[in-house]
Amino acid sequence: MTESTPALLQIEGLKLWYKVYKNRAKVLDGVDLSVAPGQKVGLVGEAGCGKTTTVKSVLGLLPRGGCEIPAGRILYEGEDILGLTEKELTRIRNSQIAMIHQEPAAALNPVFTVGEQMMDVVRYSAQGRGYGKKERREIVLGAIRDVLIPDPERIFHFYPNQLSGGMKQRICIAMAVMTERRLLIADEPGTALDVTIQSQIHAMLEEMVAQRGMALVMITHSLGVAREMTDVINIMYAGTIVESAVSAEVFAHPLHPYTQGLMEAVPRLRGGGIQAGIYGSLPDYLAPPPGCRFAPRCPRAGDRCRAEKPALADLSGHRVACFHVGTDGSAKCQ
Ligand SMILES: Nc1ncnc2c1ncn2[C@@H]1O[C@H](COP(=O)(O)OP(=O)(O)OP(=O)(O)O)[C@@H](O)[C@H]1O
Ligand SMILES: [Mg+2]
Repeated sequence: MTESTPALLQIEGLKLWYKVYKNRAKVLDGVDLSVAPGQKVGLVGEAGCGKTTTVKSVLGLLPRGGCEIPAGRILYEGEDILGLTEKELTRIRNSQIAMIHQEPAAALNPVFTVGEQMMDVVRYSAQGRGYGKKERREIVLGAIRDVLIPDPERIFHFYPNQLSGGMKQRICIAMAVMTERRLLIADEPGTALDVTIQSQIHAMLEEMVAQRGMALVMITHSLGVAREMTDVINIMYAGTIVESAVSAEVFAHPLHPYTQGLMEAVPRLRGGGIQAGIYGSLPDYLAPPPGCRFAPRCPRAGDRCRAEKPALADLSGHRVACFHVGTDGSAKCQ
């Protein structure tokens, strides 16, 4: 995104705590993330680092009584979503932002047919209100056809449990893109599927997003998927964005020790296995480390890292949150 392009979505310093009995799990620790219109943005990080929490907070899908947002803003077209009422949020969900959930099985209601659920999506969308039942049905059948499921008329009357995992994921994609939206959030689509189906799902998603000129937030564990599908990659560790840059730049010059560790942890298919990795595990969110959250696992951590949280500093468009990275982008010793 250039300075002059206003962001479609801009998350600034977002902190989110889940209420756990009398305690707080301090999961998001100041997330910064920006998506320009039509841009494809990757959000990459290990299981439990807060990817789903981040995007669910954008759509207001987290239980209001179950969490607190002590700091931060989520601007959608310049308006802070956190200040909206449930009714206003529903309007945004129905007309602006679509989401493909991590678990397609959980995203579909088991007691309604595929057709009934898809008809509802059209009915509540901005443009769908002007359509009659017959037109809505045509849109739904066309959307099922678009995701390459044969015999849409038959699938229309199926219940979700009559669909395979791959078909459920395709239906979720169809539902997300069949009405006009500006932003699609895809939360690890296809993770539960085998790799061939997963790559078909990714290809389909890319094509749909390009055809419709939508912006995409693609959540994935996989650096390879992010490299293929996105313009910009954000690397998340324990509730913070630790590195963010144009995708090719992240691969050519990974600056954060966590990103470097992630790259070394990718197994090589032709042998050699994992060269190195990142030892340890994510911190306990009930008592996270006071400084850099990666410090307990970082080979370069010094006293300052353990005491103070590094800000996400901008080095000519490549942003990184690490005290060891100099202003010229080079690694320096503490
Ligand atoms: N409702 C909740 N109450 C308490 N803790 C929660 C809740 N939802 C998520 N968490 C915790 O927040 C942390 C981040 O979870 P989240 O689902 O956002 O991670 P993720 O990056 O999407 O992981 P994955 O890659 O496995 O999907 C985890 O430690 C999780 O246990
Ligand atoms: Mg998740």
